[in-house]
Amino acid sequence: MPDLVIQPSVRPLFGSVPVPADKSITHRAILLAGIASGRSRIRGNTLGEDNRATLGALRALGVGVEEPTPGELLIEGKGLSGLTAPAAPIDCGNSGTTMRLLAGILAAQPFTTILVGDASLSKRPMERVAKPLRLRGARIEGRLDPRRVGEITAPLEIGPLRPPHALCGIEYDQPVASAQVKSALLLSGLYAPDATYVREPLVSRDHTERMLSALGVPIRTAGSMVELDPSGWSGEIPALDLEVPGDISAASFLLAAAQLVPESRVTVRRVGWNPTRTGIFEALRDMDGVFAMEAKGEVMAEPIGDLHASPATLRASRIGGEIAARSIDEIPILCALAARAHGVTEIYDAAELRVKESDRIAVMAEVLRAFGVRCEERRDGMLIEGRPDRPLDAAGVSSHGDHRIAMAAAVLALCADGPSRVRDAACIATSFPRFVGTLRALGATIEVDEGAP
Ligand code: S3P
Repeated sequence: MPDLVIQPSVRPLFGSVPVPADKSITHRAILLAGIASGRSRIRGNTLGEDNRATLGALRALGVGVEEPTPGELLIEGKGLSGLTAPAAPIDCGNSGTTMRLLAGILAAQPFTTILVGDASLSKRPMERVAKPLRLRGARIEGRLDPRRVGEITAPLEIGPLRPPHALCGIEYDQPVASAQVKSALLLSGLYAPDATYVREPLVSRDHTERMLSALGVPIRTAGSMVELDPSGWSGEIPALDLEVPGDISAASFLLAAAQLVPESRVTVRRVGWNPTRTGIFEALRDMDGVFAMEAKGEVMAEPIGDLHASPATLRASRIGGEIAARSIDEIPILCALAARAHGVTEIYDAAELRVKESDRIAVMAEVLRAFGVRCEERRDGMLIEGRPDRPLDAAGVSSHGDHRIAMAAAVLALCADGPSRVRDAACIATSFPRFVGTLRALGATIEVDEGAP
């Protein structure tokens, strides 16, 4: 597992760079292309390993996938009922989105599929998706979780849905806002003759709704309620032709680095800024961050544009409620920014962080302390005492196999008083395979130590 060795910044970060295709949108585009009618073309900058797990799953289900040039996917859709039984368990790798969204489609198939994942994914809670799918008639079993009563984890065994049964309509109130669960229910709803209603306590990312609507599926949203009513729908998803916007979650690491390194000027091109994802912008504005948004139109109902960022004198903030929900994947990098802000930042309403690729509250607290930042863990967040007036302590930290922790630590390292080491950094390829090259292109000094044990 390679380590990153990061030197403190001695010159500004300067330049204009792309980021990988939005991971969430790409998962959805790939899955819908697999059950669409005809050949879809999906273009996007550098696919991460999570999206490749979804592609691998489609291949295992009999869908033809070609990659004629880097960044271009051609997918031969099989139609809603054309998937075939996989020959072996499907490996979803580290990707919770692959496992949970796929569960929605597999719940309606007349064959059995087993979904497995890596060590981290095999610990993540799956009852939240299994329960509502069962309520609509699906067969889905997991391994009982010895650490949590009533919880199951992967491997998941899904299906078969035996004829003449079909999935039934459902009206479901999600106890926790989750785009993955909502999307699994909407995807399974494509196979149910009756309507699917999903309500959540706060609106989670709505890429599935936007994409289904752009593809002519009868879907309506009102506040945090979504309705998919297939009566009168042809039952056919047309092939997609889409250039996926850049990932706002990947862009956030560059946006943050530009806030922290003196005299920087960084542009990130063609970033998707769907309003259900822009909590990072509001949080950063509240911290007096410096950035500008240059709108460039829409792609399949997703707004995009260029982001321009410069250094800022940051102040502490309180991040919770719907801002936390709309920046849930950006909390690790917001913690890094808080470490360089004047005052004490409070993060709350973010208990979901404990069941992401790692326990991001515990792991981020460990990373911050290693850099000499005082913080206090809370059940649903943490308090972080900013240390903006002197460099951070150079540190050696572990990513715990979590891509967003590794990248947040690398950004912190730019502000340290000597070289820092991020161990176990291969996980960055999950979402941002060119992270190191991009930071280097902007002027940072980072080495990859391949020989690390
Ligand atoms: C995602 C939804 C979020 C997010 C994850 C991607 C998606 O998870 O944290 O990285 O693409 O639907 P939850 O659905 O668990 O909130």
